[in-house]
Amino acid sequence: GKGRHRHFMAKEIEEQAEVVSHALATYLLPAEGKIELPEGGIDFSKVSRLTISACGTAFYAGLIAKYWLESWARLPVEIDIASELRYRDVPYQKGDSALFISQSGETADTLAAMRHAKASGVKVGAILNVVESSMARDADAIYPIKAGPEIGVASTKAFTCQLATLACIAIAAGRQRGHLTEADEKRLVHELLKIPRLMADVSSKERDLEQLALDLVPASDVIYLGRGVSFPLALEGALKLKEISYIHAEGYAAGELKHGPIALIDEHVPVVVIAPDDQHFEKTVSNMHEVIARGGKCILLSTSEGLEKARADDELLGSFAMPSVEPMLAPLVYAVPIQLLAYYTAVHKGTDVDQPRNLAKSVTVE
Ligand code: F6R
Repeated sequence: GKGRHRHFMAKEIEEQAEVVSHALATYLLPAEGKIELPEGGIDFSKVSRLTISACGTAFYAGLIAKYWLESWARLPVEIDIASELRYRDVPYQKGDSALFISQSGETADTLAAMRHAKASGVKVGAILNVVESSMARDADAIYPIKAGPEIGVASTKAFTCQLATLACIAIAAGRQRGHLTEADEKRLVHELLKIPRLMADVSSKERDLEQLALDLVPASDVIYLGRGVSFPLALEGALKLKEISYIHAEGYAAGELKHGPIALIDEHVPVVVIAPDDQHFEKTVSNMHEVIARGGKCILLSTSEGLEKARADDELLGSFAMPSVEPMLAPLVYAVPIQLLAYYTAVHKGTDVDQPRNLAKSVTVE
């Protein structure tokens, strides 16, 4: 049941700290500071190219994992949405492996893309929540995400558990390929183990996010900006908002704004800026100032030091202070305010949060 929560979505957002720790416990040996992937999985030391594919929110988790696999494992990653990948004439080669990500394990396009890759001789792994599913039966290797049943149509805890699982896979791949040392692995495991507590910290401040959401309620368009690993999160933030609040929203790479989308900016379009205190911070904040200079109304998500450094307090529509987190892992924690902003916007608009119009939990038609 929903417990004390008004909606399954609220319950599932809040329980992320707990289920992400279950996902991590599946792959981490905390005392040793090591990661252990299931037997019979993909041997990343033998992979020359990895294809990742999925739909919707699961695709955005894959897009974040691409940054991790490139950086930690020096592994070339190609990624596409499943409804395109399945119809492309991909020249799969020896040395190719593929990962498919799905909460339900039943999404028709993801399943078809997986079967096509497998039939082309590619070893396929499936990152799944429902482990008794069509994709589980057909994959060569299964990586469970342990999120527990997700009832809300909008995916929340499956997303962060997919990320936790993918982070473990990427770190293990980095070790297998000799690009991360034992000390690197230990450090990253240590950082991963901090994540659930940081997520709970953010959840406990949900009232502040509800306040910020009130500024999104009257909007008919909202833009999300991020750079690096925060770019896919901007896409996810926009998807979450549009699906449950029916407000038109788009995510953009912060650096892409000036190549067209900045023409959309005026005082009626709120812009959510995802700017963790990382190597991209200055650039993203400078993009934010370009928006402000054109009358745009920004909501800034950053650490308190970041908010201070941005020196934009009087010019902002709002801001939210985030805990500091290892920069590459920031999406796991920044997912929480992104989800809560969408959730409270929908609640105050009075839409059906758990059963948004036109949507189904599992898309088994193509
Ligand atoms: C968004 C959402 C969808 C799913 C997509 C894939 O909140 O829920 O975008 O992520 O339909 O579903 P699965 O993961 O079951 O393959």
